[in-house]
Amino acid sequence: MSGRQADCFISNVSRKRDGSVCYNGVIIGLGNVMPLITVKDLRKTYEGEDVKTTVLQGVTFSMEKGEFVAIMGPSGSGKSTLMHILGLLERPTGGEYRLDGNDVAELSDNELARLRNKRIGFVFQAFNLLPKTTVEENVELPLLYDSDPMERNGKRIAEALEAVGMTHRAKYFSNQLSGGEKQRVAIARALVNDPDIVFADEPTGNLDSKSGLQVMRILQRLNDAGRTIILVTHETSTAEHAKRILRVVDGKIVSDDPVLTRKIAKDGEESLK
Ligand SMILES: Nc1ncnc2c1ncn2[C@@H]1O[C@H](COP(=O)(O)OP(=O)(O)OP(=O)(O)O)[C@@H](O)[C@H]1O
Ligand SMILES: [Mg+2]
Repeated sequence: MSGRQADCFISNVSRKRDGSVCYNGVIIGLGNVMPLITVKDLRKTYEGEDVKTTVLQGVTFSMEKGEFVAIMGPSGSGKSTLMHILGLLERPTGGEYRLDGNDVAELSDNELARLRNKRIGFVFQAFNLLPKTTVEENVELPLLYDSDPMERNGKRIAEALEAVGMTHRAKYFSNQLSGGEKQRVAIARALVNDPDIVFADEPTGNLDSKSGLQVMRILQRLNDAGRTIILVTHETSTAEHAKRILRVVDGKIVSDDPVLTRKIAKDGEESLK
């Protein structure tokens, strides 16, 4: 009897840890066996008027729900491009991307936008907050596509600000905040739609070490709560807060390793290093 069947031999009907349903030891239904993200031979070439830039040259990997993956690699290696494709901001020019088993290439631009708004939060190195706009208005932006009543939106904004410790600055304009505070607001904006995947492209890149640590603590907490986190960073010490590190060189994955001694960002610590 195979190990897979042996797992099931508890009673007539049982459910394995991966969600598959068994009857008398035989798998009769697959559960959450589908990876959250699967990319196969993913390629991206930008075509300008007279230049062609090949950025991704056949990227293949998969990721389960609840993972925390750091993507590292030299400048220009294609990390942001990969994040933008995974985050449904751009389409690949070759290969396959499946999200929850669904081929993303089959979705229209509108369907992609809807899926992105519902499931994906993005945090950028440069914060990308609207200036002369209050903290709560910035956080509200992703909700403007939604038809929820205003009072429910208010609750969601308050919860997102609370999650990043920025409730006390809700009425401030974004240009009245420090860099670390701006990034926490940007994370609140990424969280307000309760996405299950959060992409963070060098979120600590413009921050001092203490603010960077706060950002990593927030990302780890989000991951502990079940969200999948995909982080781009240049710093090994930041990447070690993730659970797995993918290295990209010249548009290809050159290594894919678990983090054996993971760093946990704790309250009261002074810096990321
Ligand atoms: N819209 C675009 N048109 C043409 N080329 C592009 C475009 N976007 C990115 N590139 C090129 O793709 C390459 C990879 O860019 P990407 O932003 O993915 O790199 P990266 O690994 O994120 O680098 P960094 O660490 O500096 O952020 C670069 O050489 C860049 O010039
Ligand atoms: Mg980049």
